[in-house]
Amino acid sequence: MEFSIKSGKSEKQRNDCVIVGIYESGKLSHAAQAIDDSSEGFLTKLLKRGDMDGKVASSLLLHNVRGTNSERILLVGLGKHDELSDKAYRKAAIASIKALAKIGARDVASFLAEVDVINANNKKLDPSWKIAQMVEAVNDALYRFDVMKGKKDKADKESTKGINKLDIFVSEQDDNQEAKIALKQGIALSSGVSLAKDLGNLPPNVCTPTYLAEQALAMVKSHGLTVQVLGREEMKKLGMGSFLGVAQGSAQPPKLIILQHLRGEKNQKPVVLVGKGITFDTGGISLKPGAEMDEMKYDMCGAASVLGTFKAIAEMDLQLNVIGIIPTCENMPDADAIRPGDVLTSMSGQTIEVLNTDAEGRLILCDALTYAERFEPSSVVDIATLTGACVIALGHHASGLFSNQDRLAKELLSAGEESLDRAWHMPLWEEYQPQLDSNFADVANIGGRAGGSITAACFLSRFTKKYHWAHLDIAGTAWNSGKEKGSTGRPVPLLTEFLKKRAAKI
Ligand code: BES
Ligand code: MN
Ligand code: ZN
Repeated sequence: MEFSIKSGKSEKQRNDCVIVGIYESGKLSHAAQAIDDSSEGFLTKLLKRGDMDGKVASSLLLHNVRGTNSERILLVGLGKHDELSDKAYRKAAIASIKALAKIGARDVASFLAEVDVINANNKKLDPSWKIAQMVEAVNDALYRFDVMKGKKDKADKESTKGINKLDIFVSEQDDNQEAKIALKQGIALSSGVSLAKDLGNLPPNVCTPTYLAEQALAMVKSHGLTVQVLGREEMKKLGMGSFLGVAQGSAQPPKLIILQHLRGEKNQKPVVLVGKGITFDTGGISLKPGAEMDEMKYDMCGAASVLGTFKAIAEMDLQLNVIGIIPTCENMPDADAIRPGDVLTSMSGQTIEVLNTDAEGRLILCDALTYAERFEPSSVVDIATLTGACVIALGHHASGLFSNQDRLAKELLSAGEESLDRAWHMPLWEEYQPQLDSNFADVANIGGRAGGSITAACFLSRFTKKYHWAHLDIAGTAWNSGKEKGSTGRPVPLLTEFLKKRAAKI
């Protein structure tokens, strides 16, 4: 897919298709108005006939419209005039690409980025936002995961249908230089999101801890990162008894992957991202029920989001120091697997009674969070498909956000709003902590059914006292189930936006 920034008149473009927006009640966007004017009111007539209502994401394809230079015009609904929200804009952008998926229009001009968009605070969004969102929407609409499919589907992929070139039109007054930077950043973000999606969608027999480590190592050359991979022996020396406990039931060797993107000032304290990388979660001896267990291949989406974010910020050349830590292993039942009742000693020295081997994410994260201390971080954010309880609490639209510092929480919340990858602030109150009391160790790894996502965060909070920390529970947002099953790439947009803002502040 090739993107470029252009400005010019909608009726004059010679692309295979020109995309313009129309509103409910027949109001036309500037680009649609220009086409209407040069076609003797063709669009107005057509809307009067009632063939298109302008509802958000509706569309109508027209051919050979008189007075225009393009073979096709695609009308896309933008809803009520003056009320186009950020989310509706994204929907319309996706709909416009999907409407062209199966026809011969390859070289397309979109005028949707010219329309006014307002966010929830009634703020008019700038052209940079509209361009970057457009790129993401397009890549989202065109994303396919077919590397594991046979010949037939591959042939479909190589067909000569669907968009392969998109000119994004901005109005002449807009700063072209800024628009080009926004385009570059949108492309970088999309490539990070795609990586996160691919890693999530890969089957668990391919995407193993070793595979994730190899992907990280490949980014040394391609993206100028420094990468270090620790194996079982090194982790033993560090005293990571909790992480290694989970890993001991699997034939796949565990890895601790450390990524460094150091493009800020030398003495600038880094932001550390920690991603849960369980490449398959059977539950271990506390075995999960069979239904939908395949979806536990997505239990490494926290890790995937760290790798995706590093790809995005490297391609943006973000001037910031960022460290990534990925503890990765499988959670399997085995003769050698940990049992309910086992007590593990974590790297922090705290002992943990394993009451349920399916609460394994926190067991690998706690050691990675202790390891993070050595980087003297400005903040640490962990990302994990941690609890089914978070899905019950928030459903599939918001990631759960927990933090020991309100300012950091606010930064992440607003990055989520801005990137349309939202999180919701959950409590981390002391009152929940006693649910983790153990009769036999310093802490239990489960806290009962009540507030399950909160007690999971409380567990992690016992290992993050030395720095500002936030935890994103992405169990409900990292992938879609059912017919549309597939990784979403979230929360790469949120994390990337957060880091961009950090870099701008320094
Ligand atoms: N990876 C799961 C969380 C999960 C479950 C995410 C379903 C998305 C969908 C995690 O390791 C887990 O199994 N958590 C348990 C914790 C419980 C044993 C306290 C859960 O949520 O059931
Ligand atoms: Mn589990
Ligand atoms: Zn898990």
